[in-house]
Amino acid sequence: MLPHTTGVLPSHGTLPSVDFAAHADSTLVDGAARLIPIVQGEALELPVSALTRDGLLEALEAVGAKGSHGEIVKVALEGVLYIAVGLGEDTSATSVRRAMGAAARALKGVDRVVVSGEFGVGAIVEGLLLGGYTYSGLKSEDSGDGEADGQTDERPSAPQITVIGRDDERAEFEAAATTGHAVALARDLVNTPSNLLYPEVYASYAEKIATNAGLTVDILDETQLREQGFGGITAVGQGSAHPPRLVHLTWAPENASAETSIALVGKGITFDSGGVSLKPANGMEQMVMDMGGSAAVLATSCAVAALDIPVHLEAWMPMAENMPSGSAQRPGDVITHYGGITSEIINTDAEGRLVLADAIARACEDSPSHLIETSTLTGAQMVALGKRTFGVMGSDELRDRIAENGRELDEPGWAMPLLEEHEEEISSKVADVKNANSDRFGGMEFAATYLSRFIGEDTEWAHVDIASPAWNSGAPHGFTPGRATGVPVRTLVETIRGLV
Ligand code: BES
Ligand code: MN
Ligand code: ZN
Repeated sequence: MLPHTTGVLPSHGTLPSVDFAAHADSTLVDGAARLIPIVQGEALELPVSALTRDGLLEALEAVGAKGSHGEIVKVALEGVLYIAVGLGEDTSATSVRRAMGAAARALKGVDRVVVSGEFGVGAIVEGLLLGGYTYSGLKSEDSGDGEADGQTDERPSAPQITVIGRDDERAEFEAAATTGHAVALARDLVNTPSNLLYPEVYASYAEKIATNAGLTVDILDETQLREQGFGGITAVGQGSAHPPRLVHLTWAPENASAETSIALVGKGITFDSGGVSLKPANGMEQMVMDMGGSAAVLATSCAVAALDIPVHLEAWMPMAENMPSGSAQRPGDVITHYGGITSEIINTDAEGRLVLADAIARACEDSPSHLIETSTLTGAQMVALGKRTFGVMGSDELRDRIAENGRELDEPGWAMPLLEEHEEEISSKVADVKNANSDRFGGMEFAATYLSRFIGEDTEWAHVDIASPAWNSGAPHGFTPGRATGVPVRTLVETIRGLV
């Protein structure tokens, strides 16, 4: 299992501890509260597990339990607390994960819980870990009372939850706990404010976390980036007092598949003010999340190592802070990327693609069979696909596979096209390409066309734009908390599994 980030990051969320017990051991957890999924139908249905008892159904009905999806009803019988969670009529993994997420948020004040794995050990564990994650930031001990944005402001006590299953379900439990913790890692990084997470310290946290997970880590600093020609990362970073970094992770197990080699690239803008093309003040605080792609790449890489997936993986995290200052880049500048392609800067707020271009060009030098890049890249993604669905563009097969995996895992994704007109519109009079178009039409697709220019010839690629799903500015729902969501970590892990 992946360790929690306690002790590494300056701020982090809390989440339940989970363990597994085979049927025979279930007496060990007597005295704990029992989490009971119930199915809605003509009559309420309880699972057949040993955790239920005679009279429980009647007791639940007596207090009005319907079993509708996400409904939580608590009853105490002979000193045992039963927490019933409605699944509705749908017992699919998606329904179970969401209901367990809601249940995890209802466990405040409960220390010890047992749940039967009957409706799917993996979905139950993921739902509990993902939904039970709470980030309270850096509030001082006795600040305020009550709740804001559905997040409690006291340090929540996280319960210990035992999942009871068959012996042959232990591996499924371990895998789900690993991806659950990987998602929490990505959320912790994205939730951490930008004054505490800027490129130098982000790189050193990434180094510690990845080394602990068994990956090899190499970090390029601003001098090495300049000397080696990473002109995009250097240009974006030059306006900030915090210099940029490029973090490179390697997972190369001896049993790695011979045909498949994967490169991951993630946008690591630790704060995006827009630069000289300054963003409006309203909502700018949300730009703490502009490193969500790189956080997902780090968390995915750690999960791949923890799951011991036999694949050669190289991950690249370009990190920079996009700030306006006397040393910042300007609209009209022409920069040279790693590998020699030049960009005319039209808008300094289209900075993500500039750092990604360098990292993609470097990643493709090693001729990976597949390259997956993910980034909070465009506001146009949010306009096109709404608040929860990522957009994915690139090689047909890989693109469609990622969109389908995302939908299957309830991190919904949708395939979007590369547009013919952008092939011409991207040209510049003074450089090979320009970093922004003169109109707003197809802004998400234009960014993908820009990135496509840096992909190597024999590499299948996909660009996953997570501008909206990486961050939930609303109330928690299902297994999704407020703020950082950890999307698309589970989709990336599953996609990599499927490529081997
Ligand atoms: N980080 C932003 C995209 C973004 C916006 C992510 C809102 C999450 C929420 C990105 O760097 C950006 O500013 N993109 C510009 C590009 C434009 C100037 C071509 C945009 O989408 O407005
Ligand atoms: Mn920007
Ligand atoms: Zn950005």
